[in-house]
Amino acid sequence: MSGKNSISRRQFVAGASGLMLAGAVGAAEEKKTAPTPSSPLAIDGGEKAVKTSPASQPRWGEPERKQLDAMLQQDSLFYWGGPQTKLLTERFQEFCPVKHVQTCSSGTAAIHIAVAAAGIGLGDEVITSPITDIGSVIGVLYQQAVPVFADLGAGTHNLDPADVERRITPKTKAIIAVHLTGNPCDLDALKTLADRHKLILIEDCAQAWGARYRGRPIGSIGHIGCFSLQDSKHITCGDGGVVGSSDERFGPLLQKYADKGGNRTKWGGFDGFATNYRMSEPQAAVAAAQLTRLEAIAAKRSRLGNLLTEKIADLPCLIPHEVHPEDRAVYWFYMFRLRPKSLKCGRSEFVKALVAEGVHCSGGYIKVPLYGEPVFQNHGFFAGRWPVKEMGLTTMDFTKHKCPNAESLLAEGIRVYTYEYMTEEYILEVAAAIRKVATHFAA
Ligand SMILES: Cc1ncc(COP(=O)(O)O)c(C=O)c1O
Repeated sequence: MSGKNSISRRQFVAGASGLMLAGAVGAAEEKKTAPTPSSPLAIDGGEKAVKTSPASQPRWGEPERKQLDAMLQQDSLFYWGGPQTKLLTERFQEFCPVKHVQTCSSGTAAIHIAVAAAGIGLGDEVITSPITDIGSVIGVLYQQAVPVFADLGAGTHNLDPADVERRITPKTKAIIAVHLTGNPCDLDALKTLADRHKLILIEDCAQAWGARYRGRPIGSIGHIGCFSLQDSKHITCGDGGVVGSSDERFGPLLQKYADKGGNRTKWGGFDGFATNYRMSEPQAAVAAAQLTRLEAIAAKRSRLGNLLTEKIADLPCLIPHEVHPEDRAVYWFYMFRLRPKSLKCGRSEFVKALVAEGVHCSGGYIKVPLYGEPVFQNHGFFAGRWPVKEMGLTTMDFTKHKCPNAESLLAEGIRVYTYEYMTEEYILEVAAAIRKVATHFAA
């Protein structure tokens, strides 16, 4: 995960006893009834609520080995015409049915390619979320366009369409909808806004492999969908990305904006300007094999996250991770939010108590909203300068930018780590721990 205070899978395992408790979720649930307010917290010497320690499982094995062996029979590892790239593309299209697909070197690259294919340039405004990886906006800035951050829904952690609408100006050209943590954005509302204002809707699906919006695969609903294959994502090849579109205005341009600005299907020289964002065959081989694991990973994470919500939703001191009942969220992580007025303690005390109970969690996500990062506060993107501002093409002042709900989310949110190897029994114990700590600190 990209948050500074996150733990890796390996650290999670190191902290676990390795004991795998199989099945018997129903029985475990029976035992894990809400502790009475008098049961002492583990941090005060009481018994831990979490006793289960699910062991990590290998993320790669036979499917990846087989694909890499096949790749070693090839006499070229270049993407163009490469069998691994072709396989990855076909498998990608099986779960995300878009007509044009381009593999690339990262999720950041996928978004830059999308933004370039959308024709976004000098002084254009692109509205997006302030709570995301900086890779969501790097491409916008490289196109000499201006990211405009809109506020988020209190429990969804995704763009609030009403605030997006308030921030639309004649310069707005696109919306980048970040499906944060794998929870689908309100795509109907964003698509309606995009249509009404003639904007391009780009989906940032980096954290949302396998998520579904009203039954439809995310990445196939906006005009362009972007995915990351970076190591922490649901599936990975170390680093990589995929960008796809069924829109004939943008889809045919994706390849050239991933490959130095030249169209390899119908060579006409470099008629576009782009950097080299190509993905090579070894990465494509691993990613193609990883895609065979996706459905199981997505289904499991979805089940675990929803189970946690079901077990803590009645607690008055918190807002659970809000997912639309017809959507499938794939919980890159689970984030609930505290209601400070309902508690006698602060967030850090709450987190410390949960950790002592055996819950793998931490406070917040990224340290500050993106506009709070020094590079934004200093408007220092290009050798310490920002040409569009110096040229008078934007009045954007990130020192004055405010998204109150996003800021409170970072102060009040608690991130619970969810991995596909975790058991329902573990999640039930996590829920019991949250209930125990919440009951103890209730105002
Ligand atoms: C929401 C989001 N967008 C974009 C990116 C950028 O992806 P990459 O790290 O592959 O460049 C990430 C990566 O963490 C992400 O989480």
